[in-house]
Amino acid sequence: MRIKHFVLLLAALACSSVAMAQADIEQRVEELLQKMTLEEKIGQMNQVSGGLQFSKEIAAGQIGSVLNIVDPVEVNAIQRIAVEQSRLGIPLLVSRDVIHGFRTIFPIPLGMAATFDTAVVERGARVAAVESTAAGVRWTFSPMLDIARDSRWGRVAEGSGEDPYLDSQMGVAMVKGYQGEKFDDPTCLAACVKHFVGYGAAEGGRDYNTAMISERSLRNTYFPAFKACIDAGALTLMTSFNDVDGVPSTGNKWLLKDVLRQEWGFDGMVVTDWNSSGEMVMHGFAEDLKDATAISINAGVDMDMMSFGFIAHTKTLVEEGKLSMATIDNAVRNILRLKFRLGLFENPYVDESLARKVAYAPEHLAAAKQCAVESAILLQNKGDVLPLKQNSTILVTGPMADAPYDQLGTWTFDGEEQYTVTPLKALGAHFNVINVPTLTYSRDKETKSFKAAQKAAKKADAIVVFVGEEAILSGEAHSLSQLNLQGAQSELIAAMKATGKPVVVVVMAGRALTIERDLAQCDAMLYSFHPGTMGGEALADLLAGVAVPSGKAPMTFLRDSGQAPFYYNHPMTGRPNLGNETLLNDIPLKAGQTSLGCTSFYLDSGYGPLFPFGYGLSYTTFEYKNISIDKQAYDKSDSIHISFDLTNTGKYEATEVVQIYVRDLVGSVVRPVKELKGFMRVSLKPGETKHCEHEIAVSDLAYWNYDMEYVVEAGRFELWVAGDSASGEALGFEVK
Ligand code: BGC
Repeated sequence: MRIKHFVLLLAALACSSVAMAQADIEQRVEELLQKMTLEEKIGQMNQVSGGLQFSKEIAAGQIGSVLNIVDPVEVNAIQRIAVEQSRLGIPLLVSRDVIHGFRTIFPIPLGMAATFDTAVVERGARVAAVESTAAGVRWTFSPMLDIARDSRWGRVAEGSGEDPYLDSQMGVAMVKGYQGEKFDDPTCLAACVKHFVGYGAAEGGRDYNTAMISERSLRNTYFPAFKACIDAGALTLMTSFNDVDGVPSTGNKWLLKDVLRQEWGFDGMVVTDWNSSGEMVMHGFAEDLKDATAISINAGVDMDMMSFGFIAHTKTLVEEGKLSMATIDNAVRNILRLKFRLGLFENPYVDESLARKVAYAPEHLAAAKQCAVESAILLQNKGDVLPLKQNSTILVTGPMADAPYDQLGTWTFDGEEQYTVTPLKALGAHFNVINVPTLTYSRDKETKSFKAAQKAAKKADAIVVFVGEEAILSGEAHSLSQLNLQGAQSELIAAMKATGKPVVVVVMAGRALTIERDLAQCDAMLYSFHPGTMGGEALADLLAGVAVPSGKAPMTFLRDSGQAPFYYNHPMTGRPNLGNETLLNDIPLKAGQTSLGCTSFYLDSGYGPLFPFGYGLSYTTFEYKNISIDKQAYDKSDSIHISFDLTNTGKYEATEVVQIYVRDLVGSVVRPVKELKGFMRVSLKPGETKHCEHEIAVSDLAYWNYDMEYVVEAGRFELWVAGDSASGEALGFEVK
């Protein structure tokens, strides 16, 4: 009892000291605000890309934050100007897109999501924070939380895929990793949840395009990860380029004030995306830059990234009464609060020798390798060709076998390719490697070298073909209308198949490509999103069976890009696919209109995807047994206790990502066919069985219903415990 009381007392003291620190910060913010001129306030709202070239403006207090300076010597130099030469000595906030690692590059975020491992993702974000804060960066523009249901959109690489629950879990893990234990710790890297909102729903997957999303769908699908990250303490938020239903996010008062501030109680800082304020002129939503500035600030934006409209026009807008002083003060409060929270006033400078010391630390590389191992998805393994026999002879070819720059993926400004371990470098530790470099990059169409590779294959026990996308083919502004392998990569795979040797294909890409025809031309396929610095070692371990694949698809794999957008958790249709429809080539001549199956499907590609969300094989097999829930009917305040036995029925020690899905059978509006509500990674030795338990609160079944209320509606539900979103047997239950 005594210990319990002591613990409670400590907890209470901790809470009150947090509250006191917060009150102290608010007081300091107010005191500083009192001293500031309007010009100085406006200066804080201005963010520019660059450093010493802005010395004059920094000294004049005209810049609040800079981006893209990562040399600690320059960071200190500009910080010294801000602290020592500007009138009030307000430190700068230095920012950078640290998206999946700073120096040590982790798998792209889509790959991180494929791990379904929040611990490994949090660790990755911590590594990124330690390395980047050592260079003087205290703010990253990550995590990107945009739900992406269309792989044509190049930025699918930067997010966690199509599912709101997975997105929330991964986003929160990243926020925790970046920000660490204490905001004022010098290794705290302020997170920025982006892009608020709907940016991933760009029409047709065309970047920057309009998004038509209803309020209900925003609330049920696009908001949850933002809300979860803000609840987890994310310090900043970025608006998005796109409009939703005609209103550009940077000028959307309902989003930035009513939802973000009032409903969610966000007290962090809101920044525009790069010139997204100015781009409201191109949108035809603002007359000119001045009008765009008024719209943005009145909508609730605090800081302008690179439109230069705030610095140029805010003063006049205040004088003209188009912006109130109260509005400006609020924006500046949010900026100063962040700077005080980060301890920048106490600790503006960085130890200039630290950055190079911590970059690529062995434990950072080990964490990146672990993440890359867990992110690879085994899509096919005919005849158990994988793992390959260690010390056997393998022919290694393909454009991604030794592509140190491209395997890092998109948004890797600071990763240095000389540190990249490519598969070609790593495979020698396990195999006798014959390397014939055929295609030199993913778009290469030159097939002359294929013959030499076929000849060399005669001496090999198996062929491993590394294909995929160059880093530049995914990411911002890199949408594609076709998702098949570029160049002559499919031809290369087919040429290797023609040798009669076992063919293993490894894909390193920024998105889920359409690889159906390539699957038919190989025995095994390991799908690794761009795996980062340590990708080569991770893949070599997986190919050799030193590690066993456990990644699961964070996005649906399509048969054909014409199926996009396609996602597992779509609303139930009145004519669901029955699987007995007549496909294109089987349609008899002059067939009657209704004899083909009037359901939701494509005549040419059927209904189903190539691989469903959550899919991924292992070198072993798993058996689910005795799946049960503790009751038939639950109250809304209950929790659902789920239990099951999981057995490793194969020969390798391995990890299964167990997924729990729920379906609300009847709602006041149409509900999704299934929704992920939980997952867990379970590791098992060969033959081992573990009894597993999981709990879901009934309140987690709530959604925004017909009346736009967030409620659990009473009625019938179904629940699945399975290894992917298309497997398992439904268990029924009721909510009273
Ligand atoms: C991107 C943002 C990024 C910003 C700063 C923009 O083009 O959309 O995601 O954070 O640039 O580099």
